[in-house]
Amino acid sequence: MKVRVGIEALAFAVPHRYVEIEDLARARGVDPNKFTQGLGARQMAVAEPGEDAVALAATAGRRLLALGADPSKIGFLAVGTETGVDHSKPIASFVQGLLKLPRTMRTFDTQHACYGGTAALMAATEWIASGAGAGRTAMVLCADVARYGLSTAGEPTQGAAAVALLVSESPDVLELDVGLSGSFSADVHDFWRPVGRRDALVDGHYSMECYLQALAGAYRGWRDRALAREVIRPSEAPTSEQLARVLYHVPFCKMAKKAHAAVRLAELEERAGGPLDEAALAAEAPVAAARFASQVAPSLDLCSRIGNAYTASLYLSLTGLLHAQGAELAGQRIGLFSYGSGCASEFFSGVVGKRAAERISAIGVEALLERRERVSIPEYERILSLPPDAPLANDPPEGEVRYAGTVDHKRTYRG
Ligand code: COA
Repeated sequence: MKVRVGIEALAFAVPHRYVEIEDLARARGVDPNKFTQGLGARQMAVAEPGEDAVALAATAGRRLLALGADPSKIGFLAVGTETGVDHSKPIASFVQGLLKLPRTMRTFDTQHACYGGTAALMAATEWIASGAGAGRTAMVLCADVARYGLSTAGEPTQGAAAVALLVSESPDVLELDVGLSGSFSADVHDFWRPVGRRDALVDGHYSMECYLQALAGAYRGWRDRALAREVIRPSEAPTSEQLARVLYHVPFCKMAKKAHAAVRLAELEERAGGPLDEAALAAEAPVAAARFASQVAPSLDLCSRIGNAYTASLYLSLTGLLHAQGAELAGQRIGLFSYGSGCASEFFSGVVGKRAAERISAIGVEALLERRERVSIPEYERILSLPPDAPLANDPPEGEVRYAGTVDHKRTYRG
């Protein structure tokens, strides 16, 4: 009998401070419309040194347990991150200790830029689907702090967050289509962070090209398998229209719009046997805009209020989508595209569970965002200039974890 596998529950954690993106634009002498309309941003999370990837991952994981995940059933803990804190010791080990999880589990981190979280999710899913999990569940954490230099082109696309996923044979939130994934990877230098650097380096426009090339390859792989398995059917219109919603990795919200238009155009060109002429392009433009509005835009609210959270970004889109439309999407298939610079990518799909809306409402999405503090640009600049081991100004809020300093070369956490 085919095993059903997917996301049973999820939770997330965000830093306590944020900046309004229009404040940042004004401080940098840029037209605010460039950041709001040109990039699709509204707010950007600002992590203090205590809110490192371990602290965010542990806080999200603790919230997942508080939603009812049984720790004694978890046999697999994987953390996708590109902002780890140690060359050897994985975040998974820190989290295992902080959450007092059982010792009888497999723990490790996965790294491949923003794709690392999906690598962890796929490893967990296939561990369960293969039968190796023997009825146990998996916790997958995606946690990152996105930092670019002050006044660089990447500055308005920073952010931070962690998402915790419980993966099991009871996929109340999203049942994954195991075996349909399409992958695309290549050796490219579009975004990287050499060892020892806190801020990432990025060839921004080239990274968008790499993203779109990867998307074309990964989508084709998914589509051909989905057609062969009759999950979708051949059609005159782009096959992506058969997905109720399509979620993309969101380095900034406008990227999702470019991505959706590119997926459509690639299929239209495939059918036309070459590039579309001007008339066909003009006819496609309003259709692409309408499909973006109905299929993609509903997933972007949370990302536009947090900014880029690297590995967590796709799963923030999922959280935001189901927060907004979980009830109406129950039983419908959605597509998801994960991209990590360097690069690796995967297009996959799943069917929204009947209990998705109920599961997401338990998170209290709005309350978590509303309790954040808006900071001025000078305060944001002060926080970003703090050394990574700056002492904690305050005790962590109830239920949250913070990095509390390094003693004898060992990182310590409080909360
Ligand atoms: N009003 C409205 N829109 C404006 C504008 C204004 N006054 N000024 C510029 N824009 C638009 C541009 O037309 C452009 O939109 P388009 O791409 O749809 O044409 C958008 O704002 C960005 O402008 P651009 O000049 O390309 O910005 P930039 O060169 O300063 O940087 C990134 C943009 C995304 C390259 C940069 O933020 C970056 O490097 N980010 C990190 C890397 C990343 O996220 N990579 C993605 C793949 S993982």
